[in-house]
Amino acid sequence: MKARFIFLLYGTLTLSSAIAPAADTNPKEQEAAELKACAQLTLSGFREISDTREQRFEGKVSEAADICRGGQKTLQFRLTPWVDWSQYWGTGDTSSLPSGYISTKGPAFRGVSGALLDLEYQRIELIKFNLFDNNGTYQTYIEGRAGIIGPSLKTWPEMRLAKGDPNYQAVGGDAEQVCKGDLIRFRTLTGICNDIRNPLMGSSGTPFARNVEFDTTFPDLGQTVLTKNRHGDRLGLLTPDPQVISRKLFTRAQSNPGACNAGFGLPNNSPDANCDYQKAPFFNVLAAYWIQFMTHDWFSHMEEGHNASEYMDVGCKAQLVNNVETPLTPEDIQKLGCRPGDRVDKTYVQQDSPPDKFSSGGHNYLTRAPKTFSNNNTAWWDASQLYGYDETSRKRVKRDPKDPAKLLLEPVSGMPGAGYLPVLQAGDPMQPQWAGQEATAFPDNWSIGLSFYHDLFAREHNSFVDEFRKQQARSPNADSGLRNPSDPKRVIRNKDVTPGELFEVARLVVSAEIAKIHTTEWTPQLLYDEPLYKGMNANWNGLLGSGDKDVSTALSDIVVHSFGKSKNAAKESQWYSVFASGPGIFGLGSKVPHYDITNPNDVNGGVNHFGSPFNFPEEFVTVYRLHPLVPDLIEYRDLSNDPNQIVQKVAVIDTFEGKATDAMHSGGLANWGLSMGRQRLGLLTLHNHPQFLQNIHLTRLDSPTQQLDIPALDLIRDREHGVPRFNEFRRQYGLRQLTSYDDFIDKSAVGAVLKQHQDTVAQLREVYGTHVCDSSKVITDAQVNEDGSPINDCLGHPNGSVVDNIEDVDTVVGWLAESTRPHGFAISETQFVVFILNASRRLFSDRFFTSSFRPEFYTSAGVDWVNHNGPGPEMIEQGMPNGHKQPVSPLKRVLMRNIPELTPELQPVVNVFDPWARARGEYYTIEWKPRPGAESDPAFRQ
Ligand code: HEM
Repeated sequence: MKARFIFLLYGTLTLSSAIAPAADTNPKEQEAAELKACAQLTLSGFREISDTREQRFEGKVSEAADICRGGQKTLQFRLTPWVDWSQYWGTGDTSSLPSGYISTKGPAFRGVSGALLDLEYQRIELIKFNLFDNNGTYQTYIEGRAGIIGPSLKTWPEMRLAKGDPNYQAVGGDAEQVCKGDLIRFRTLTGICNDIRNPLMGSSGTPFARNVEFDTTFPDLGQTVLTKNRHGDRLGLLTPDPQVISRKLFTRAQSNPGACNAGFGLPNNSPDANCDYQKAPFFNVLAAYWIQFMTHDWFSHMEEGHNASEYMDVGCKAQLVNNVETPLTPEDIQKLGCRPGDRVDKTYVQQDSPPDKFSSGGHNYLTRAPKTFSNNNTAWWDASQLYGYDETSRKRVKRDPKDPAKLLLEPVSGMPGAGYLPVLQAGDPMQPQWAGQEATAFPDNWSIGLSFYHDLFAREHNSFVDEFRKQQARSPNADSGLRNPSDPKRVIRNKDVTPGELFEVARLVVSAEIAKIHTTEWTPQLLYDEPLYKGMNANWNGLLGSGDKDVSTALSDIVVHSFGKSKNAAKESQWYSVFASGPGIFGLGSKVPHYDITNPNDVNGGVNHFGSPFNFPEEFVTVYRLHPLVPDLIEYRDLSNDPNQIVQKVAVIDTFEGKATDAMHSGGLANWGLSMGRQRLGLLTLHNHPQFLQNIHLTRLDSPTQQLDIPALDLIRDREHGVPRFNEFRRQYGLRQLTSYDDFIDKSAVGAVLKQHQDTVAQLREVYGTHVCDSSKVITDAQVNEDGSPINDCLGHPNGSVVDNIEDVDTVVGWLAESTRPHGFAISETQFVVFILNASRRLFSDRFFTSSFRPEFYTSAGVDWVNHNGPGPEMIEQGMPNGHKQPVSPLKRVLMRNIPELTPELQPVVNVFDPWARARGEYYTIEWKPRPGAESDPAFRQ
């Protein structure tokens, strides 16, 4: 068995031509050549985890590995900047499997397992090279403390509660701080005491972290020689002009502008309206709003719907004409459709004093980024968008006076079901623009999708409470599983659980369900292929849990070979993420024998911050600027009539803020669920931002136009937050750099698609320009050229030649321009690499997902609910979707439970984020074809 896995591992050798199969050989010879390449790999042994940043794994493997895992066809992509695994056997649809081989099983195994290993190596090195905390702990991360190396540190003085904090004494005051008693029972309002030995970590108002070296942030400031060499004097907050970029590179082209009406649609929601957008066939509008709903849980730069009090211009001033910055004429402005009069409130800055510097091991470092910004939400996955993250937001969360364990839901005339969230009242803390919206903790940028999820999960909260109430009535004296650490011996029987306790238990359950939906349902549909299905299920259930013993054994092999006998702390930290792939991150450390709720080691023992306190980095916010996902018009359907008919086209902007609540109350959860479940969302690509977002009217703005171009603002905010530009961003994350705009052209594109890519390249050249390069200027220390020489301004082109200003491309523009993507990826590989690191970390760092996922906190009923996706035993989905036996998905269960009218429509649905009427077809097909019974749906005629 073992030898089989060793085939998959990394080799350093370059394959000789004797092994590379000729293109015209027959399948049997090709298969033989692949197996020979695998044997060569075995001999070359394991790839070591890199010691230095510039030697790290860049997603490119040896020729032998490429041939072993993907055959001859992988070789033609070797010289592209893009990761290799997407070319391996079995990582796409059926066309990614070889034909004429003895069986497709072996190649698919080599390909998919190889991809998983590449991803694991990436994760290990991301954890090793990309953690930069802004709280003041970075120097100890580099230097260590009291003989312990930085990556193994587990507590930090910077994570103590400050003297003025109301819980200062409760956690230990001046002495060692350890949270206990009521502070550790449930998720706290501000997120303190998740890590009981680092009370402040992840709480509201703590700074965003970084994933990139501090001195590469704020490239506009030109603070280092490398940065100056990289960008010359070409960058500024408004240079290149963000509104010009938006209009030239982001605008959705319309075949019939009148039918779109700048995103406003036609009067009376006429179904004749039409706004063209590029659609993702395998991802629906519910998925778009899901991720906005998530980001409102994880982070916010804004406070109560606004930024700092100072205002600034937002562009529409200049453009490059023949490579020369030239002011826009009135005619240019009219032609572009931008607005020079727009203004916006500047981002809040937490710290902007010059950071301290230190030297260690011959390197110079900054102790933090030149500016920091606070995350005003809790960074935890704690459903704080529903339940609150500070005193103000909590006041908007209404409890049911009849049962305070429940959230208040009110009936809406004519609508079935458990009711809807109440509307904000005059006495509630709110901004004027929120008037008429549902009352909830995070009310900003409200629209129909957020209304849908907030109402849905309020119902789910109450469904859990209802079920628990039934259990209390059935067996009042049975042990609920819950314990109070202040009185740990007392068995808390079902009937003893107070409404307050039950409310907090329901919050824990809802948060964990949301995390499970995101990890095992949303993400595998966002990244619709076999490696990611397996990878994401491994994060949650473990590879063993998902029944994938092969891959688990392969990973264990690496651990044993490269780590096994060593007790080296640095290696321990590196390999931890690999270990976790066996049992899964979720529940890690929760199964220790004789678990003791008063023992901090038991309660907290499953978390791992890898030496750097957890918060999201600014770079994570950047890759979640996903505004192209949103269509301009929603295709509204009526469940009680014919779900196959589109009866209205409702402009999303007509569901903005309070109008969302009106729309929800007149249409109801079932019809909106059906409509958003069937409609495809927008592809994340250039020329695909909603028109309405480029022209949005925001009454809160103190500006002449009160309008904003949000896609342009996305660029400005990234520049304000000092996110490195696209090429350095990639180098920092261990991805290959691009050497010209031409690298954005997909090597496999032909015909009209190729022409489209070429046009895009021409537009990038027009907007960002070119310059005469100087090879004496070194531009980065994050990577080196393949021959070991420093990377210079010419990026491999001859000195003095005209090169593209590829270094200046804004990160959002860059990842939207990436046309080469793994199969079924709704996002680009640059975005994905940011997720690999941070999606795992937010599970690894949270004790409620690891060592405190226990009945003592969740109740036994709560643990079962999370594990089984609801009450009772786990339900199993019919058939073997994509070859897997799998449970009925968690969101499908949530929908059927809380909006039972949708049950018939949901029956054939395997993943709620896959358009509901799409035929799921064979192995990871992304074809747009109707399932039986949906043939008359006009969406399939488009
Ligand atoms: C109707 C739909 C939407 C509207 C009206 C909307 C509007 C806005 C506005 C006004 C901002 C604030 C800009 C600022 O002052 O910094 C913003 C920020 C943002 N939006 Fe959206 N948005 C929508 C959908 C989405 C979706 C689907 C996503 C997907 C994840 C998303 C992700 C973000 C992110 C990540 C930010 C930055 C937040 C921060 O800096 O803390 N938005 N959006």
